[in-house]
Amino acid sequence: MLTINLKGKRAFVAGVGDDQGYGFAIAKALAEAGAEVLIGTWTPILKIFTHSWSMGKFDESRRLSDGTLFEIKKVYALDAAYDKPEDVPQEIRENKRYLEAVGYTISEVAAAVERDFGTIDILVHALANGPEVKKPLLETSRAGYLAALSSSSYSFVSLLAHFGPIMKDGGSAISLTYIASERVIPGYGGGMSSAKAALESDTRVLAAEAGTKWGTRVNVISAGPLRSRAARAIGFIDSMIAYSKCNAPLPNKDITAEEIGQTAAFLLSPLASAITGVTLYVDNGMHAMGLAVDSPSLALETTACT
Ligand SMILES: NC(=O)c1ccc[n+]([C@@H]2O[C@H](COP(=O)([O-])OP(=O)(O)OC[C@H]3O[C@@H](n4cnc5c(N)ncnc54)[C@H](O)[C@@H]3O)[C@@H](O)[C@H]2O)c1
Repeated sequence: MLTINLKGKRAFVAGVGDDQGYGFAIAKALAEAGAEVLIGTWTPILKIFTHSWSMGKFDESRRLSDGTLFEIKKVYALDAAYDKPEDVPQEIRENKRYLEAVGYTISEVAAAVERDFGTIDILVHALANGPEVKKPLLETSRAGYLAALSSSSYSFVSLLAHFGPIMKDGGSAISLTYIASERVIPGYGGGMSSAKAALESDTRVLAAEAGTKWGTRVNVISAGPLRSRAARAIGFIDSMIAYSKCNAPLPNKDITAEEIGQTAAFLLSPLASAITGVTLYVDNGMHAMGLAVDSPSLALETTACT
């Protein structure tokens, strides 16, 4: 039988803050396949996440197919907007949600993982942040645009640069992108579309560089819309889900986080050993469409726009 077997592999998943998003689903799929899972949780929500976890809030979502609960080996505080301690601005350092946290910049987390576990096999980047995501690009400030790129794109470059040296030969990394990188999605603003375009381009360059340097594969999943916490904050996720259900080649079908988790587990496994530098769509085929088949104008003999 051909199965995804990640027994003996260790994964670091950056961007798990609850049980609703793609990061959680990927971490769980990796555990289901036998991997040991470490996670990086955004520093300001670390306490609420670990508290909710220990209170059993996620127990239902943690259930694996054999009936046991998915366990996380260790949770690290992580702020992927910063590479080293001296990058952290004073006001962040003094913010009450950061005060007690230590070692949350990317270089410090990579060093801590090396200290605690030695090596990893798998790196997952499941995080994004665009402070001005609700603003059209034309109204986005330079600071907002650069913040989106910093948290959502460069963070992957930096994570791979810092974790690459402790990744075993044959290691694999993925991140998550969205179709707004290549097609216009009004409402996905603030430079987030630009950040996703950068992430996809960087995937190809990093595949070449990390493949040559460490034998590491680098891919990106272009995921369909999911009602995660981050997506709810953008504000129009329910319309995007409805639009996809009406217009995708696989209509009337939700895209589940589990489907992205399973694809990630495959891409991160030895079964995908010749796949690198790829943007893989897991979106019920939505990316292939050039027309909204439910558009009212298609029912008219002359278009509504003449
Ligand atoms: N939800 C969707 O419809 C959708 C579609 C395509 C791609 N994606 C991508 O999937 C990835 C995961 O997002 P999600 O939608 O599952 O939402 P999510 O809310 O589960 O995940 C986003 C995570 O990023 C973390 N984060 C934000 N800034 C951070 C920082 N500076 N350092 C560390 N962590 C930080 C948040 O705390 C959160 O846990 C993102 O890259 C997102 O763009 C989402």
